[in-house]
Amino acid sequence: MVKKLELLYEGKAKKVYMTDEENVLWIEYKDSATAFNGEKKATIAGKGRLNNEITSLLFSKLHSAGIDNHFIQKISETEQLVKKVTIIPLEVVVRNYVAGSLAKRLGIAEGTSLEKPLIEFYYKNDELGDPLLLEDHIAILKLATSEQIAVLKEYALKVNEILTQYFQNCHVRLIDFKLEFGFDAEGKIVLADEISPDTCRLWDMETNEKFDKDVFRRDLGNLADAYEVILQRLGG
Ligand code: C5P
Repeated sequence: MVKKLELLYEGKAKKVYMTDEENVLWIEYKDSATAFNGEKKATIAGKGRLNNEITSLLFSKLHSAGIDNHFIQKISETEQLVKKVTIIPLEVVVRNYVAGSLAKRLGIAEGTSLEKPLIEFYYKNDELGDPLLLEDHIAILKLATSEQIAVLKEYALKVNEILTQYFQNCHVRLIDFKLEFGFDAEGKIVLADEISPDTCRLWDMETNEKFDKDVFRRDLGNLADAYEVILQRLGG
């Protein structure tokens, strides 16, 4: 059994610990919810368990579908082991429908479908408020080469295809989501972080009821109940 060692990093939703195994990290999902760059905060009982369960399910699914990712195994309701990677400070957002910041930026109604998936890059930088980046900005900041950007896009589109289908089978529409990537010990780009209702917009296929973090952002109801619906529909 892998041993948990010292705390390496504490984020808004997760704690990351070292382990006694090389290149293996121990992740603990917390019950905290934050939005608007940490301006809105709450503790939501059960959220850590739900996001750990859902992320574990989705990363296993992606692994079976041939998408290399950092997930190793779930070790408890709220904890998982992952491969250590050096995170690329980019948020890769994929959108199938207009919502959130895109609806605001372009003045198009939420829920409008996009003819093809849109990929956007945001700079993971709390001080700057995670700004939208053009590919030339990524080059100026030296965050990734154009070849690496092409790899990120290819991965993002593949993940989108797999997850769109998977959620569709569960009667859920994948509106948009955010991915993060890192370099593993061999320098290979791998999918990392989490994929959960914290990082996706997930709407009921018929009613458009929201089962994602917008429930918290917009005070639409009980967040844990919404995430539980997703876990149940995924068969967890
Ligand atoms: O806010 P925006 O519309 O740009 O978000 C697009 C998608 O990316 C949403 O699913 C949102 O939950 C996710 N996201 C995220 N973390 C961020 C910003 C956005 O998971 N820091």
